[in-house]
Amino acid sequence: MCGIVGYIGPREATQFLLEGLHRLEYRGYDSAGIAVTSTDNIKVRKKVGRVSELAGLLDEQPVAGHTGIGHTRWATHGAPSDTNSHPHTGGNGEIVLVHNGVIENYSSLRKQLQGLGYVFTTDTDTEAVAHLVAHHLEEQLKLEDELTEELCLRAVKLTLLKLKGTYGLAVLFRDIPDLIIAARNGSPLVLGVGKGEYFIASDASPLIGYTDQVVYLSDHEIAVLTPGKLDLMHRDTGSMAPSIHTLAQVSADIDLGDYEHYMLKEIYEQPQTMENALRGRLDDDEATAKLGGLNLSPQELRRVDRIVLTACGTSWHAGLVGEYLIEEFARIPVEVEYASELRYRNPPMSDRTMIFAITQSGETADTLAAMRECKRKGLPTLAICNVVGSSIAREAHGGVYLHAGPEIGVASTKAFTSQVTVLSLLALFFGRMRHLSYGAGQRFIRNLQEMPEKIHRALECHEAVKAVAERYASMNNFLYLGRHYNFPVALEGALKLKEISYIHAEGYPAAEMKHGPIALVDQQTPSVFIVPRSGIYSKVLSNLEEVKARGGPVIAIACEGDEKVAQLADDVIYIPEVEEYLQPLVCAIPLQLLSYHIALLRGCNVDRPRNLAKSVTVE
Ligand code: M6R
Repeated sequence: MCGIVGYIGPREATQFLLEGLHRLEYRGYDSAGIAVTSTDNIKVRKKVGRVSELAGLLDEQPVAGHTGIGHTRWATHGAPSDTNSHPHTGGNGEIVLVHNGVIENYSSLRKQLQGLGYVFTTDTDTEAVAHLVAHHLEEQLKLEDELTEELCLRAVKLTLLKLKGTYGLAVLFRDIPDLIIAARNGSPLVLGVGKGEYFIASDASPLIGYTDQVVYLSDHEIAVLTPGKLDLMHRDTGSMAPSIHTLAQVSADIDLGDYEHYMLKEIYEQPQTMENALRGRLDDDEATAKLGGLNLSPQELRRVDRIVLTACGTSWHAGLVGEYLIEEFARIPVEVEYASELRYRNPPMSDRTMIFAITQSGETADTLAAMRECKRKGLPTLAICNVVGSSIAREAHGGVYLHAGPEIGVASTKAFTSQVTVLSLLALFFGRMRHLSYGAGQRFIRNLQEMPEKIHRALECHEAVKAVAERYASMNNFLYLGRHYNFPVALEGALKLKEISYIHAEGYPAAEMKHGPIALVDQQTPSVFIVPRSGIYSKVLSNLEEVKARGGPVIAIACEGDEKVAQLADDVIYIPEVEEYLQPLVCAIPLQLLSYHIALLRGCNVDRPRNLAKSVTVE
């Protein structure tokens, strides 16, 4: 949550800052602001609302300069307003900074600083940091007679020692205009290294097209940026050499192309993203999956007798599908834990338990904390992650990347199907290490290989989904019902509808209906039944009839050519037939499209739904 950018070099800073904020807007869009240094002061422009509003303000009140910082906000402390927008000013304007994270001890810092005469003008936790840097700067100046880079660094270091909580920070100094100090603890920061210029960003997307050379800051690292020079240090161990990585992303990954929304683009990318998740990972000869990134020996892998999958939101739903897959094919007991719960629980885990953190962004605060807690206990802790170089990807002992490319729409779509694909590879991998036969492994592989084409065909339901959306868009309550592999899909379909169209929706195992939710059924409450042919097809059909008998409208997701369902349901959306255990991959597609179209019809902002941000980097 919240996105940070920074620039120092020969260009006009504003251009990169604004473009970078546009690209980071998925992280928060309550307000945006930038600060740019000139010879004698720091000019700040900030505004509540989207980055486009800030761009409008900058047209009226331009700022020029070669060093600057910027911020797009997801409000935590203080309502969205011009005043609470970042950047924030410390002291009498000696320093200006942007912050991503939460300062837990801000109210005691605020009191202390107010006692020292600092005047607070915002409701944010960040303002305490700004005044604290200014205060330490003033203290340091009493000891030396000249303001230097070294002194500024000391002031920042002393400030960091007093902060409790998380931060990604970028600080400007009025009296040393060509200096940015950046620091990280718990909130991501990436540095871009160009020719005679440096960039700062919360993730790599703003850097695409500017540089492909990046340095990922780790916790407690501090970067001092001056024109043509980057000094990197660790809070405790001092100076260190930056480790430079090359970015693989290209501009097309973050462009909308011909699509109206990122969500639609990402839904349509799924045949390709599924291929990416499978590429190089299917071993025909051995009839298994190749997952080199697990970084564990065959002996260690064979010892595993329990798997814990931990995640939040959509990634947690993918984990539930993973549980069914791994238990069925590898016969290893699996638990799926909300990361926000696992981090504070202390379930018994032995050294034969293996943990997988599932996350698109690799930055979700709860998932990161749960993973760290498991690592602390000495458990092998791996990641199923999309964003290369993200905190979770770097801190895990190993793992599997999704290779889905940037997911920008707040509603997760392609990440879900990629996560399920990777989890199916894990099921195959562990299955073949145990009792799954060669023939069964080969059949699994063949089925997986067919999936990109099946997804392609599932997308052909688009027009049918659109028509269904038009019929039901005015309804205010939905039920999503499925069983077995399609129960998590029901949860995921309901989440998609809730988050982008603000309609109340509940996902349930279809048979659980009778234990309560069936009381909700009436003519104004459509039930979306996920009922492809399977071993329990007739059971789900009975559940469907129970809803019909009570006058509830039914939208069914069924296999192509299923006439039986057509006779019972009010509307049917057809998907291609696939093996039962791979059905979540195709059944998710019409549900993603349904939520997309209903949201559009209700005039909602599909890519930037209210109150949400793409990656939840605060607890
Ligand atoms: O980046 P992560 O996968 O860790 O994110 C977890 C959830 O915040 C995320 O899946 C969220 O639920 C999505 N907005 C749902 O579409």
